Amino acid sequence: MEDTFGHHISYLRLSITDRCNERCRYCMPEEEQAWFAREEVLSYEEMLRLVRVGARLGIRKLRVTGGEPLTRPGVIEFCQELAAVPGIESLGISTNGTLLAAEREGETMAQGLVRAGVSGLNVSLDSLQREIYQRSTQRDLLPRVLAGLDAAVAAGCASIRLNCVLMKGQSEAELLPLIRFAGERGFLLRFIELMPVSTRDVLTEENFLATGTARALIEVETGPLIPQPDFKTNGPALYYRVPGTEQRIGFIGAMTNLHFCESCNKLRLTCDGKLRPCLGSYLEFDLRDALRAGADDAELERLVLGVVARKPKEHDFRDNYQPNRRMIAIGG
Ligand code: 5AD
Ligand code: SF4
Repeated sequence: MEDTFGHHISYLRLSITDRCNERCRYCMPEEEQAWFAREEVLSYEEMLRLVRVGARLGIRKLRVTGGEPLTRPGVIEFCQELAAVPGIESLGISTNGTLLAAEREGETMAQGLVRAGVSGLNVSLDSLQREIYQRSTQRDLLPRVLAGLDAAVAAGCASIRLNCVLMKGQSEAELLPLIRFAGERGFLLRFIELMPVSTRDVLTEENFLATGTARALIEVETGPLIPQPDFKTNGPALYYRVPGTEQRIGFIGAMTNLHFCESCNKLRLTCDGKLRPCLGSYLEFDLRDALRAGADDAELERLVLGVVARKPKEHDFRDNYQPNRRMIAIGG
């Protein structure tokens, strides 16, 4: 699938729930809680149907997100079915990591996910200091996340990445410890600029720390980072090598990198069945009604292609964007 700006669409992010066991300040502030009712959320069967349609149209990579996807019962079995959809080449999951070490039927969730065919785990980790972690997520769950990472390693997960959302006044002291930790453990660490995805209140001058500023702070300690223009993952991160090491770190600068959207290959399906062509745009198109009204595959294909045709050139985040849907319902 190709849109009008030459983006090749091959990647679908699938939010399977809007619920979460943490309350990150930039994502799900405590005061903003209005969960979808159960019948509003797509069943796994309904999601699989849309994934099969997407795969026929050229979707090759899937990422399961939330909310916290591991809070939805049956997620491991669902992943198993996703991985088996013809055309799907890679399946990842974005998680806060708190449940990876939890036991389910005699194995850890991490083991279950790997067994189900999940090859990549993206784990949110803003700090390695318990108090700072707690302040950021409003939950004292850092020890569980660290146990979760151990469980992911023990399960033999092929690719583990850490995502740290940059917050001014909080992240500066975390940069080097996180780099060291990721380096020692062989995790790919990325620093993410704060985006106005849940509430604009958090994205203030006071809280915003640009990736460029973070890089400069890191370089004070490490010396100049070495750009790795040929190192690419699925997304818009720019990678650098830490001098004197083989470690690469990434920077996701949605706000300050003006080329951010050029290589976008994504669509997002919200857990209530809206297909969104862009994280930073108001555009969203309901698929649930058609699905539940008995639309055939040809009709669903037509709807998906219609959304791709409306994919914008770039996000509107720099345009005083007012989010109309919480991040949790969009799925990162
Ligand atoms: N800005 C940037 N990143 C965010 N995430 C959640 N909310 C925001 C935000 N406002 C990140 C989380 C997680 C991923 C799914 O999205 O840290 O790693
Ligand atoms: Fe939960 Fe992730 Fe949002 Fe934090 S960023 S509240 S862990 S969904």
